[in-house]
Amino acid sequence: MKLADFEQLLTDPGQELLGRLAGGYDEAAALSVAAKLRTQYPPDLVATALTQTRLRDRGLRKFGPRAQRMYFTAAGYEQATRTSVAELRADRFARAGARRIADLCCGIGGDALAFAEAGVEVLAVDRDPLTCAVLRANARTFGLADLIEVRCADVETVSLDGCDAVFLDPARRTERGRTFDPEAYSPSWSFALSLADRVPAVGFKVAPGLPHNLIPAGAQAEWVSDSGDVKEAGIYFGNLVGAGVGTSAADRHPARQATLLPGPHRLAASDVPDPSPGPVRRYLYEADGAVIRAHLLGELAEQITAHTIDPTIAYLTSDQLTATPFAAAYEITDVLPFNVKRLRAVVAERGYGILTVKKRGADIDPALLRKQLRPSGPNSAVLIVTRVAGAHTALLAQEAG
Ligand SMILES: C[S@@+](CC[C@H](N)C(=O)[O-])C[C@H]1O[C@@H](n2cnc3c(N)ncnc32)[C@H](O)[C@@H]1O
Repeated sequence: MKLADFEQLLTDPGQELLGRLAGGYDEAAALSVAAKLRTQYPPDLVATALTQTRLRDRGLRKFGPRAQRMYFTAAGYEQATRTSVAELRADRFARAGARRIADLCCGIGGDALAFAEAGVEVLAVDRDPLTCAVLRANARTFGLADLIEVRCADVETVSLDGCDAVFLDPARRTERGRTFDPEAYSPSWSFALSLADRVPAVGFKVAPGLPHNLIPAGAQAEWVSDSGDVKEAGIYFGNLVGAGVGTSAADRHPARQATLLPGPHRLAASDVPDPSPGPVRRYLYEADGAVIRAHLLGELAEQITAHTIDPTIAYLTSDQLTATPFAAAYEITDVLPFNVKRLRAVVAERGYGILTVKKRGADIDPALLRKQLRPSGPNSAVLIVTRVAGAHTALLAQEAG
């Protein structure tokens, strides 16, 4: 989409057309709908409005019903922070007392809108003119234009005067696709680090796989998952450290946190050692990905009195069933050596027609294995293929709790 096309969308005919398309995009009928609309509106406008409607429909997943009123570019949608995570972050900045945040690399405004909705003024900076126009439209749509100043500039040259907080969400895609090298982010990791010397409250978003040795001393790293999927890691400095919701007085400044949404449920690092391995017990716990990425398995094991089943595998096991938001629990019915023929016989004998296959530390394709086991019958089970004390093992289980 070009800037001129987007501007057309904001005119009266563009708004009328978007209104007519609102409430669902039927891919099967797209061609005939487009052909009919082209007799009433300019063809370019029809194409832009159809694309926007398609993005709004996709946006439901990240932004809920408000997506139907938002504006997107395709790349801006992909890179935007979902509402749940943006609200969590905005809350942290608001609790830290931020009054004017420089949202560097603001994109279409996933974070900027949440900051403004938390009552904080925003200087939103992006170097792409179309992206800036889209954020301006989003700010107007939600009545936040007075709180969000959008500036089209390179964040490396922008003045931070008047801002008491900075949030940076660098682009992690290069022309060759996604990059895992923080120095190749735009702007680079070095630039991100330099911000902490300039402003009292600084936070930036990074990929969840960021190596822990890159986390600067004194900063707080937070891994966030939503409905079981790890979405991002955030690195916070200055008075943003410990300003997260649900951070108890006892663990005010943990270097690492895992935060699970909805909730939020927070688990904080307390320097307990990694859990040691032991025999498989009655229950198996599968920790949320944010807990694993944050290296907090030891903290979780301590909370639920559990140990691991292998030094290299992030499953925990215990004789007790403890309710926890940080892990899914399974009651183990069988511990078997991994053998497809044997498993097929057990699956048939027990009538497991609904079979969920999980793996960790095992070189198998869960979908293929499921097919090989030919599940049929009225009963359900979970099959976990993993390593126990170094040996390939199949654990048959039922969901617990
Ligand atoms: C990951 S997106 C930001 C998403 C945003 N936080 C949201 O929730 O919508 C990164 C943005 O950084 C912008 N960008 C990358 N390098 C930049 C630079 N040096 N100066 C300004 N903007 C930049 C890109 O145009 C892109 O819109």
